Amino acid sequence: MPARPFRRSALIASALVVTATLIGSGAAVAAPGSPGTPRYGPGADGVGDPYFPLAGNGGIDVVHYDLDLDYTPPLLPDPAPLEGALAGVATIDLVATADLDRFNLDLRGLTASSVVVNGKPMAFAQTENELVIAPRPKLKTGQSATVIVTYGGTTTVPLDIEGYPYGWVTTYDGAMVVSEPEGSATWFPVNDHPTDKSTYSFAITVPAPAVAVANGLLVGSETVDGKTTWWWDAPDPMAAYLATATVGNFRLETDAPAGETPIINAIDVTRTPNQYVNLARTRAMLAFFEARYGEYPFVAYGAIVDNDSVGYALETQTRSFFSGSASEGTIAHELAHQWMGNHVSPGRWADIWLNEGWATYSTWMWNEERSIRTVAAQFAIVMNRAATTPTWNTVLADPGPTGLFGAAVYDRGAALLHALRLEIGDEAFFDLAKTWVQEYGGGTATTADFAALSEEISGHDLEAFFTAWAYTPGKPAL
Ligand code: TRP
Ligand code: ZN
Repeated sequence: MPARPFRRSALIASALVVTATLIGSGAAVAAPGSPGTPRYGPGADGVGDPYFPLAGNGGIDVVHYDLDLDYTPPLLPDPAPLEGALAGVATIDLVATADLDRFNLDLRGLTASSVVVNGKPMAFAQTENELVIAPRPKLKTGQSATVIVTYGGTTTVPLDIEGYPYGWVTTYDGAMVVSEPEGSATWFPVNDHPTDKSTYSFAITVPAPAVAVANGLLVGSETVDGKTTWWWDAPDPMAAYLATATVGNFRLETDAPAGETPIINAIDVTRTPNQYVNLARTRAMLAFFEARYGEYPFVAYGAIVDNDSVGYALETQTRSFFSGSASEGTIAHELAHQWMGNHVSPGRWADIWLNEGWATYSTWMWNEERSIRTVAAQFAIVMNRAATTPTWNTVLADPGPTGLFGAAVYDRGAALLHALRLEIGDEAFFDLAKTWVQEYGGGTATTADFAALSEEISGHDLEAFFTAWAYTPGKPAL
């Protein structure tokens, strides 16, 4: 589903800009580490993804984020402006991948008040998207460090590169936290790129009776003096954009039969049953996709059905997010993302069709299973689109930063997969799907990796196929 049909009128997030004074204008590339003779240098301000040059950081690999957040939603009833108050302590375990005399984390629109590295207060500075830290002693390649950042500020409604709300989106009853592709920096200091996956734990304190819903398993909650702290644990490696800490008036519904994946749904108390009744199919869908993609990769699953009207759905890891209501097709789409996108994540944002094409194709297969429409019929609908439409005008494996969630990425991506299945046969195709998840699960992969594995498993020469479908604009001939 292109799950973002609605462009919300601009509530401009004013990014807080603190000019760096501590840091000189040094090279953006980290000095290579060479054990024994450290040559210290700065970590780069981005991982080198051309779509988002400042996303992620060089020279660090984050192992774990422990996020201790205190959040006060806007005061009811319906205040203007829509502003919340966020105060956080992020405890970040990382490993240096270069000899560092300074390194960055991404942080946008919030102000850091202290940075502690390995127990010692450190000098730091902020620019628009970057928190710049100068560790002393300097960090050698391979060295572990614990970085504690105390930060906070006023939350509003951050906008992504296309002008859609994302990140820590302040709502009247809490926050809708949906950060794809690089919006996590709006709520915690982060190495904000899928190539650095990490485990997470959360302690989120909100005014009772609000509920904070994050990834993974609920560890517990406690209310003291009218404030409830919600503890969640997400032990599976996760890309930062898939983290959530959504706050609202939710009812938690847990289904945890022995030996099966626990399903924890969070349903906004204003929702009527017809808005979430389709979630009853989640367990059947889990079995359906396990048969095709292999065992479900995470400790838990579940949905958040919020009361906002932006029309979003996001595959937040282990806990997919739905605006307003959850349709059957979208439930299948976000669940399939747990394997395709979350367990195997894009190596560059340009590879996003590997997420959305697979998720869209997964819904096609689910629709066929349910006798709603055959895969062949859904494929035909896309193939019948005129060659002049965006589906065919776009280079699938390079849609551009503003084309990441356009029709080509979803529908041409799904059509590529079906055309590939027709080309190599069902047996090789489903062997490919499982092997893809097996081989790249827990990490990232690119379009080139997918093309190579397709050839390897099928034994077909697919160079012309991928050139036409993924690397060239225009409608491929069948
Ligand atoms: N990945 C989402 C999907 O399921 C679409 C999406 C992209 C999105 N960026 C987002 C949703 C930000 C919510 C917020 O297709
Ligand atoms: Zn999707």
